[in-house]
Amino acid sequence: MPHLLGLDISTTGAKALIIDEAGTVVASHTAPQPISTPKPLWSEQNPADWWNGMVVAIQSALAESGIKGEDIACIGLTGQMHGLVLLDQTGKVLRPSILWNDQRTQAQCDEMTAKIGAKRLIELTGNRALTGFTAPKILWVRENEPDVYAQAAHILLPKDYIRFMLTGDYATDLAGAAGTSLLNVAERRWSTEVIEALDIPAEWLPKTHEGTEVTGVVSTVAAELTGLKAGTPVVGGGGDQAAGAVGVGAVEPGIMSLVVGTSGVVFAPLAQYAYEPEGRLHAFCHAVPGMWHFMGVMLSAAGSLQWFRDALGPNESFDDLLAPAADIAPGSDGLLFLPYLTGERTPHPDPLARGAFVGLTVRHSRAHMARAVLEGVAFGLKDGFNLIASVGLPDQIEVRVSGGGARSRLWKQILADVLGATLVSTNSTEGAAYGAALLAAVGAGTYPDVASACAATIKTSDAITPGGQQTAYEHPYALYSGLYPALKETFARI
Ligand code: XUL
Repeated sequence: MPHLLGLDISTTGAKALIIDEAGTVVASHTAPQPISTPKPLWSEQNPADWWNGMVVAIQSALAESGIKGEDIACIGLTGQMHGLVLLDQTGKVLRPSILWNDQRTQAQCDEMTAKIGAKRLIELTGNRALTGFTAPKILWVRENEPDVYAQAAHILLPKDYIRFMLTGDYATDLAGAAGTSLLNVAERRWSTEVIEALDIPAEWLPKTHEGTEVTGVVSTVAAELTGLKAGTPVVGGGGDQAAGAVGVGAVEPGIMSLVVGTSGVVFAPLAQYAYEPEGRLHAFCHAVPGMWHFMGVMLSAAGSLQWFRDALGPNESFDDLLAPAADIAPGSDGLLFLPYLTGERTPHPDPLARGAFVGLTVRHSRAHMARAVLEGVAFGLKDGFNLIASVGLPDQIEVRVSGGGARSRLWKQILADVLGATLVSTNSTEGAAYGAALLAAVGAGTYPDVASACAATIKTSDAITPGGQQTAYEHPYALYSGLYPALKETFARI
């Protein structure tokens, strides 16, 4: 029976996931990935580590499941977005990859904005120039490592380096390409205007494909290394957020994805290209052919709770830590938490933003603080949600929630109340790799399109509706909204 393989090169691991045609998970193996921060603000990984990890993950998933390479009908790729991989003419990697969470490029972002104009850049690429994105990293290498730049001949994203090693092709998907700041997102092609303004050689850029389109086939060398069959087709796939949205079925307007992972993501599919005029939201191509999406990214969502547990209850389970918070009234008796523990992206793109508890009195207990963390994260996600609503959301929406934070019923209820929306869970917990495998299922012809693949494989359950507490959060949210503007200068001075 044919199976599908989803490969996810995330920041923490190389994962191989095998599903059958009905969407049942047959095997999943993750090889951990090292990360290096050689200087403040830097974040790098070695593409060779990605590939070595992925070879182990593929071999192990095949061995665990007993599935043979020839039973894999098609492969879908996903992974961390925005990272820069620079290769020379022969395909040799020239320096470690500069990752999505690297913050060294503010000067290059300012330079890009000055050259193209903020308004025009947002119109064309759907986004502001952001330090995490790929284009400013290319400029950084040009300015700081001219010897490396002089040898460059190809630019790839992390998952496309895996594609290159699997197939030998220089190719990417449009959802990933949209995170480079070099794509004309509306027209789904590289932006000549941006590329020329930045003086980046157009021939360095990989060929772009839709997420379900076959970009190449597994080479003989890669087949020998991995146990896959030479000639197995590989589809475009998608950046981790777009593929993750496919994995929960957020593939049509009105079905939103809310991810409460280390970061928090509000994701809304769009049938037509649109952008937030000030670029406070990401506007990217979806991994679904011919669709786009808005996305708000909060940098510390479940990451805030993880910090709180590590700092104030290191030996406790999350359940024990959160149980007393359920008895505290909405609003945490006037205690507010700002979740900007690692800076912020949406709605305040500010690497210098900091976390804070505001409003502490002697009456507040650790339970109040725990609840304030859950509420503060919910308010931050509401900021992203409201921005999307301000640019346009259908009347009827369904929010599909995933990520580690979605294991807490209390947090889900707070989110449903704060967002004023019903949250549902899905059966698939394999995230972006599952979405990549579904894109492969469409590429293999198992399903005619992504919507049918999702309809056949993804089931929703466990609906949590707003529980009548919405108005109790209005005042705390209004107070929360005033805090960043009031503290911004102080954060910068800290
Ligand atoms: C998306 C983003 C992250 C990374 C790492 O814009 O920055 O999702 O792809 O997961």
